[in-house]
Amino acid sequence: MALLRKINQVLLFLLIVTLCVILYKKVHKRTVIKNEADVESETPEELEEEIPVVICAAAGRMGAAMAAINSIYSNTDANILFYVVGLRNTLSRIRKWIEHSKLREINFKIVEFNPTVLKGKIRPDASRPELLQPLNFVRFYLPLLIHQHEKVIYLDDDVIVQGDIQELYDTTLALGHAAAFSDDCDLPSTQDIHRLVGLQNTYMGYLDYRKKTIKDLGISPSTCSFNPGVIVANMTEWKHQRITKQLEKWMQKNVEENLYSSSLGGGVATSPMLIVFHGKYSTINPLWHIRHLVVCSGQHQMKTHNGL
Ligand SMILES: *[C@@H]1O[C@H](CO)[C@@H](O)[C@H](O)[C@H]1NC(C)=O
Repeated sequence: MALLRKINQVLLFLLIVTLCVILYKKVHKRTVIKNEADVESETPEELEEEIPVVICAAAGRMGAAMAAINSIYSNTDANILFYVVGLRNTLSRIRKWIEHSKLREINFKIVEFNPTVLKGKIRPDASRPELLQPLNFVRFYLPLLIHQHEKVIYLDDDVIVQGDIQELYDTTLALGHAAAFSDDCDLPSTQDIHRLVGLQNTYMGYLDYRKKTIKDLGISPSTCSFNPGVIVANMTEWKHQRITKQLEKWMQKNVEENLYSSSLGGGVATSPMLIVFHGKYSTINPLWHIRHLVVCSGQHQMKTHNGL
């Protein structure tokens, strides 16, 4: 009898141990599966890079800026963070524009640009006061606005993007290049347009080659210009090369010596960039123009109006 009870006890013990093992395995297996599932669902989000896009929203051009933002947002699945830049007195209006439209879903930050940094650096131009809009110079100060990102896209407010902005963001910047632009001569068809309406697509159109300071740069006047209305920039390299300081120097020199052709649209912001980035920029795939993925840009449109 005593022996039978002992055997029973042993059997019971074994049964409990087996149950424990089975239970342990089941729970363990479940957590392993769960972990794998977690990893799978988290990785794409972690890998999906945030694309920072800087756009200015000037008081009288709010609609244009919102159209630009909408064109980007509705043509991509990418995770975009819009930096919408304005002057202090328009910040609340920008917020209203965004939050009272379908753009309320976008991921955005409203950033104030303080125009006092421009003091003494802009030459008054009575004939084209709109070009002296302080926000035209925001592109000179990108590292002041963007802190968390190395690679950044800047777009003029009158750009309409018809392609996936991810492709533009994937533009390769050569080592040592702080920015990429699209060349004004890349497109055969634009040359026709240029001839047609007398548009400039060389440095001669932006710099006053009668001035010694400009001649001393040693840049051929027939060098193809680029369009700084669309910029893909590397903030690390930008800071390293002190691009902002260099641009400010060329603004200041213009105040002192009147170096830039005054007849053109966008010249005030374009000319310093043409000088500072001469021979030191990567190019944005011309397909972006050809396929009309970007319909740009202000200075061209303005000049077209003038020409016509
Ligand atoms: C930006 O520039 C830095 C310094 O030259 C370089 O190490 C880095 O790879 C560049 N990043 C991109 C995205 O081009």
